[in-house]
Amino acid sequence: MKAMRTSKLLSLCGVWTLMVGLASAAQTLTMATEATFPPYEFLRGQEVVGIDVELSRAVAQRLNRPFAVENMDFDSVIPAVISGKAQLAASGITVTPDRKKNVDFSEPYVTTGIVAIYPKTTPYTAPEQLKGKKIGVQGGTTSDTYVLEQLKQEPERFKTTAEACAAMLAGRCAFVIADIAPAKNCVKGEARLALSGFLSSESYAIAVAKGQPELLAAVNATIAAAKADGRLAKWVDDYTAESDKLKEVAASSAEASAKSGVAAWLSAQWRALCDDVYLCFLKKAADGSSRGMYLVRGLGITLEVALASILLGLMLGFFVAVIRSSHDKYGYFPVMNAVAKVYLTIIRGTPMVVQLLITYYIILRSVDSKVLIAILAFGINSGAYQAEIMRAGIVSIDPGQMEAGRALGLSYWQTMLKIILPQAVRNVLPALGNEFIVLMKDTSIVGYIALIDLAKGGDIIRSQTYSVYLPYLTVAAIYLVLVMSFTWLLGRLERYLRNTGADPVHNDS
Ligand code: ARG
Repeated sequence: MKAMRTSKLLSLCGVWTLMVGLASAAQTLTMATEATFPPYEFLRGQEVVGIDVELSRAVAQRLNRPFAVENMDFDSVIPAVISGKAQLAASGITVTPDRKKNVDFSEPYVTTGIVAIYPKTTPYTAPEQLKGKKIGVQGGTTSDTYVLEQLKQEPERFKTTAEACAAMLAGRCAFVIADIAPAKNCVKGEARLALSGFLSSESYAIAVAKGQPELLAAVNATIAAAKADGRLAKWVDDYTAESDKLKEVAASSAEASAKSGVAAWLSAQWRALCDDVYLCFLKKAADGSSRGMYLVRGLGITLEVALASILLGLMLGFFVAVIRSSHDKYGYFPVMNAVAKVYLTIIRGTPMVVQLLITYYIILRSVDSKVLIAILAFGINSGAYQAEIMRAGIVSIDPGQMEAGRALGLSYWQTMLKIILPQAVRNVLPALGNEFIVLMKDTSIVGYIALIDLAKGGDIIRSQTYSVYLPYLTVAAIYLVLVMSFTWLLGRLERYLRNTGADPVHNDS
């Protein structure tokens, strides 16, 4: 019996290793980037496009390899090539001595620099003016180091430059420092903002993991060719034009303030809201789909990850709970009990985000499907909590029930599955429901591994439109509806279990 169980476990491990192996066999050339940096990389609907994407795709073509783009936070881009998750880091990355210690850089493909973005109400005149002020930057960038090293102060770090600008417009920081290209895009169509002159001179290059001379040579050859035949210049023109067009600000809200009277004010607010709804949800992107599709597709991902990991967690939870309670009561399964205890301790002792990142960057680094990674990470995490909830349920069942089951001729497992567990589940359903709800909302951190779920979808709309209220409030409302529907379903299940044969003790039918 024991040998059989061990061999099953071993074969499971085998399947796992095979899965990981197969995934790494694909020779895809993956580019890591952070796509809120127009015109170098930005989103056209769901697709990442831009100068860096064209350059990297050309490298893949030169090497005859399939090409893929991974969109992530900027401070994950260089770690992604170091860990092997991606082969190219192309993200408007400035060559710096510190970065050179960790990765190899190609020849530079553009010379540029950083500037300050300022509200016209506090005109910028000289760099000294920046000292001691709250300065917004995209975290992990050279603007971040500029504030730290030149101004000798801590910046206000945001995930994107657009977010920093939105914060500045909301009065949360005095200036924003960013690379000139995305800075120009930020002030485009935004009458309240302007740009300073250059604060530094920098050049962008593509980074690869150390010790890969052939890959680096291919990147350099591609850059040289694209410069020589004018492709690079054309990409710069085309993508600047495209990203400028994407940047729009609802114009009528500014007009509104000119009118007076409550009715005029109300009608202006109403018009502004309609404009906002159009801009955030209905306006078609270049790929033909509207921005609202970020939410629709995101909702799909949220549901997929949440439901699959609830199921995985349930299976794991049942298993671990039975092992733990059988061991505590009858001394069965000592080895598995020890393993289960380690599992519970580690999973419950470390934060979910960290577990998700470890799964993504270390354990399953060669698995391509981020949805699968998220399901496994959340399922394994939730399994630990569900196990303890279920164990409480099992312990709460009178031991006489097991004895009665055994006396009736049922085996230990039959009694467990048919008599004990159904009652245990019924007793702990409210607590389990709670865990499901927490899990459903917790999936909103999958943005950390660049999966576009509901929350991230709203965030993308916000970063493209600079509109904060509508995207976030809509996302919150969708989560609320999800959780309320789920609670209602659980309530029905509870009632059903109360009134059916799932409860052999209080069954009154
Ligand atoms: N050039 C700056 C740096 O290397 C900022 C780059 C930001 N890139 C991006 N795709 N968000 O630090």
